[in-house]
Amino acid sequence: MRIITTIKEMQHEAKTMIREGKTIGFVPTMGYLHEGHMSLVQKAREKNDCVIMSVFVNPLQFGPDEDFDRYPRDLKRDELLARKAGVDVLFYPHVDEMYPKELTTMLTVNKRVDTLCGESRPGHFDGVATVVMKLFQIVLPDKAYFGMKDAQQVAVIKGLVDDYNLPVEIIPCPIIREEDGLAKSSRNVYLTPSEREESTLLSQSLNAARKVIRDGERDPGLIIELVQSYLKQTSGTIDYVEVLSYPELQPVNRINEEVIIAVAVQFSAARLIDNTMALRSEKAIGV
Ligand code: PAJ
Repeated sequence: MRIITTIKEMQHEAKTMIREGKTIGFVPTMGYLHEGHMSLVQKAREKNDCVIMSVFVNPLQFGPDEDFDRYPRDLKRDELLARKAGVDVLFYPHVDEMYPKELTTMLTVNKRVDTLCGESRPGHFDGVATVVMKLFQIVLPDKAYFGMKDAQQVAVIKGLVDDYNLPVEIIPCPIIREEDGLAKSSRNVYLTPSEREESTLLSQSLNAARKVIRDGERDPGLIIELVQSYLKQTSGTIDYVEVLSYPELQPVNRINEEVIIAVAVQFSAARLIDNTMALRSEKAIGV
């Protein structure tokens, strides 16, 4: 596995791969890798000749009161995990390499951001779209792999790719969970032991919601109340519980087609998000 830290070298390497007729699968991350990230690598490994992973904690997507400075970082560990998973190139640029000067052009995300994390983290998705656009120009991937853990991020990136005709296929990948249901996240390390126990209520609430929808409930208001009744049992503060169309992320009056049920809970030092899709399989089998 090669570790590349400069944009010039990364672009050169990507162009060489392309010239040799190799396909590139790309997994963008902010590091502190866990099984969630590695599942994306596995998917990329299956379908591409070369796998490039980036590890870059992107300051543009953190708000002024957010955890940019204390975001967990451990390059040595990331390097070992990436190597073991069969990553060919680890792109690990310094902030000054990615943002040497103030940008002359900023991307602003207009749709799909007035709700969920976009509402509580203003500017966050502008920062995500901007860095992903840059990374795509540097890594030149055929396919890019994103986790549905961050379903709104997938919706925003799909919009970006559509708007600007980027020649990249976005591959959404399933949420990887701990055995007790907690979605894996680099930020789970911030949870206190008692919060860690309570955190299973997030996935439990979503499972309960999916079950009642499967059993025929179609009123999003009742689903939201059901999910809230679980989350209120935690010591955290509910940031949002929403039932929305996907990927448009619009409120629905009735659950007639595939929806996303998404939650965010603020604990003492960690904000946890989770989501599930409902009615997906019914739609797939034509019901
Ligand atoms: P990061 O939070 O490091 O996540 C990198 C990728 O891993 C994202 O696509 C995310 O959805 C996925 N991921 C995280 N936890 C997961 C889990 N439990 N199951 C499946 N996939 C999971 O998302 C970012 O970084 C950044 O916003 C980035 C796209 C790199 C832009 O800076």
